[in-house]
Amino acid sequence: MSPIRVLSVASEIYPIVKTGGLADVAGALPMALKAEGVEMRTLVPGYPGVMQALQAADEVLTLPHLHGGPARVLSGSSAGLDLLVLDAAHLFARPGNPYSSPDGADWPDNGIRFSALGRIAADIGQGSIPAFAPDIVHAHDWQAGLTHAYLQYSGRPRPGTVMTVHNLAFQGQFPRALLEQIGLPSHSFDIDGVEYYGAIGFLKAGLRFADRITTVSPTYAAEIQRPDEGMGLDGLLRGRSDVLSGILNGIDISVWNPATDPQIASPFNADHLGNRAANKVALQRRFGLRDAPEALLLGVISRLSWQKGLDLLLEALPAALGEDIQIAVLGSGDQDLQGRYMAAAEAKPDQIGVSIAYDESLAHLIQAGADALVVPSRFEPCGLTQLCALRYGAVPVVSRVGGLVDTVVDADEPGGASEPATGVKFGPVTAEQLTGALRRANVLFRNKPVWRQLQHNGMAVDVSWRHRASQYAELYRQIVKARQVG
Ligand code: ADP
Ligand code: GLC
Repeated sequence: MSPIRVLSVASEIYPIVKTGGLADVAGALPMALKAEGVEMRTLVPGYPGVMQALQAADEVLTLPHLHGGPARVLSGSSAGLDLLVLDAAHLFARPGNPYSSPDGADWPDNGIRFSALGRIAADIGQGSIPAFAPDIVHAHDWQAGLTHAYLQYSGRPRPGTVMTVHNLAFQGQFPRALLEQIGLPSHSFDIDGVEYYGAIGFLKAGLRFADRITTVSPTYAAEIQRPDEGMGLDGLLRGRSDVLSGILNGIDISVWNPATDPQIASPFNADHLGNRAANKVALQRRFGLRDAPEALLLGVISRLSWQKGLDLLLEALPAALGEDIQIAVLGSGDQDLQGRYMAAAEAKPDQIGVSIAYDESLAHLIQAGADALVVPSRFEPCGLTQLCALRYGAVPVVSRVGGLVDTVVDADEPGGASEPATGVKFGPVTAEQLTGALRRANVLFRNKPVWRQLQHNGMAVDVSWRHRASQYAELYRQIVKARQVG
C-alpha cells in the first residue's frame, strides 16, 4: 500500500510551541502515524520560537503578498517533526503566546493571522508544493478551520479533508468586513457557507465543509450534538452526525514514563510502587507542605479557567481538608482564580501548596508524587492529564464529562475484566459532588490493598497513541477510498 500523505494544520505543536493539549496531540500524531503508513507534515505559523527551532530549512513557496505583507513557506524539521512553516513576519513575528500579546490581550488581527494559515494550507492541499501533494488536509481547531472554506470556494479539485475539534468553546468569530481582505468570495457569506451568527465563523466553516469531522473522545462527540453542550454549533453537528466521530487522544509514553523519567525524584514502575514515596516527599517539600506520608496528597495540573472547574475545587477544599488531605496545585490562567488559590495556600500552608506557573518539569513530579490527580472539569473534550496520571499511578478523581468518562473507570462501577476500576468519577459537576468524590477517594486511599489495585489497574491501561493513531489512519483510508469511488 502506498503511504497516505497528510498535511496537518495546527497553530501549536509540542515541544516547540504549546499552550494546551492541542500542541501535545499535533506533536505526537505524526510519529504515531508513521507506523501506520501515513506520511504527515505539519503546517505551523512561523512564531519566533518556531523560526528559532527550525533546522535545515528550504524555502518551498514564495508569496510576495499574503494578507498585507510578504511571506514564504519553509520546509524543515525540528524535534523530529517534519514541518512546513508559514514565515510571515507581519503576522507572526511577535512576542507572547500564539494568540495574545504579553499583556494577555488577543491580537486584534487574529482573524487575518489565522486566515493566512488556512489560505496557505489550502494552497498546499491543492499542490502548490509539488514535492508534497497531500491526499488529505487535516485541520485542528478554529485556527485552521478556514482551510476547508478556501478549498471549497477555490473551484479547483481538492484533497480529502478532516476537521478535528479539540475544544468547541473556541470558535474563531470575526467581522464580516474581513471577507474581502482575506480573499473569500461574497457569496461565501451564507448560512451554508462561512456565515455564523452574523460573523465569519472559522470553526463553523471547517465543520461545514470537511469530509469528516472528529473530536477527541466518543462522549464529547455525543455531547456536542446536544443543545446544552453544543455551544451554538449543535444543530450543524447533528446535521453532520453521519461524518462525525470521536477518537480518543493518547499521550507520548516515552515522554511520560515513570521508569525512566529524569524529571522526577525516584523512578518507579508498577512492580515497585514503593519508590513513589520518595516522589511524594519531594513534592511535599517542593510545595512547602508538611512531610506527611499518611496524608492523601492530591495534585492538580491545569489551565486555570472556567472549563476546568477549579473554582469548585476551592469550594470543596474546606470540607475535604478536615480529613488529612493535602493538595499541590500547578496552574496558570484566570487572574481571579490565581489570586484565590494563592490566598488559600497562604491561609493553610501545611495543607495547600500552589504554584502559579507553567512548568513541565514540575508537572512530571506531581504525576509521580501525588496520590490522586483531580480533574473537576465542567466540560472536557478529552483531557490528557488524567492519562498521564493513570500511567504514573496517581489515581484520577474526575468529573463525569467528555473524555474523562471514556478514560477513567470508577472504583464502584468496574466494567468486568476488560475494564477494571482505575479512579473516582463524580457528577453532576458541583462542589457538593466533588466534595463527596474527595471523601470517597480518601476512604479508598485508607484501604491500602484497594488503592494499590486501582494504581495497578491504571498503570496497565494502554494510554499510548498506538491504537488511537490507527483509527486516524483508518479514517484517512476511508476518505481516500470514498473519493476514488466517487
Ligand atoms: P487543555 O488542553 O484543555 O488545557 P489537556 O489536559 O488536554 O487540557 O492538556 C493540557 C496539557 O498541558 C497537558 O499536557 C498538561 O500536562 C499541560 N499543562 C497544563 N497546565 C500546565 C502547567 N501549569 N504546567 C505544566 N503543564 C501544564
Ligand atoms: C483541548 C481540550 C482537551 C483536549 C485537548 C487535546 O484543549 O480542552 O480536553 O485533551 O484539546 O485534544
